[in-house]
Amino acid sequence: MKAVAETAVLFPASELPPGQIRADFLPNGRVIAIYNVDGQFHATDDTCTHGAASLSEDGVLRGHVVECSWHNGCFDVRSGAACASPCSEALRTYPVKVVDGMVSVEYEGE
Ligand code: FES
Repeated sequence: MKAVAETAVLFPASELPPGQIRADFLPNGRVIAIYNVDGQFHATDDTCTHGAASLSEDGVLRGHVVECSWHNGCFDVRSGAACASPCSEALRTYPVKVVDGMVSVEYEGE
């Protein structure tokens, strides 16, 4: 069956200040990390592609780059691209919008 884009309305944008990261669950069970980069929101899978680190808990956001504190790999949160060793596999990303003040993320439903 072909996946359909769904939208999950997650939390008020005011709850995530610039420079911060938080985790949330999608209705399909995936855990994602949401980043506020100078007022622009981005979302990726929460688990680092190098190991089992949670980027929302163990990551440090500097500009649009999240550094995983486990082994200092990093990712561009806009594209998910890995940008420092030992990370080489990109993170999955999700389109984010702020609708009526709420952070909303598109994901693939069933
Ligand atoms: S677990 Fe993230 S860099 Fe190794």
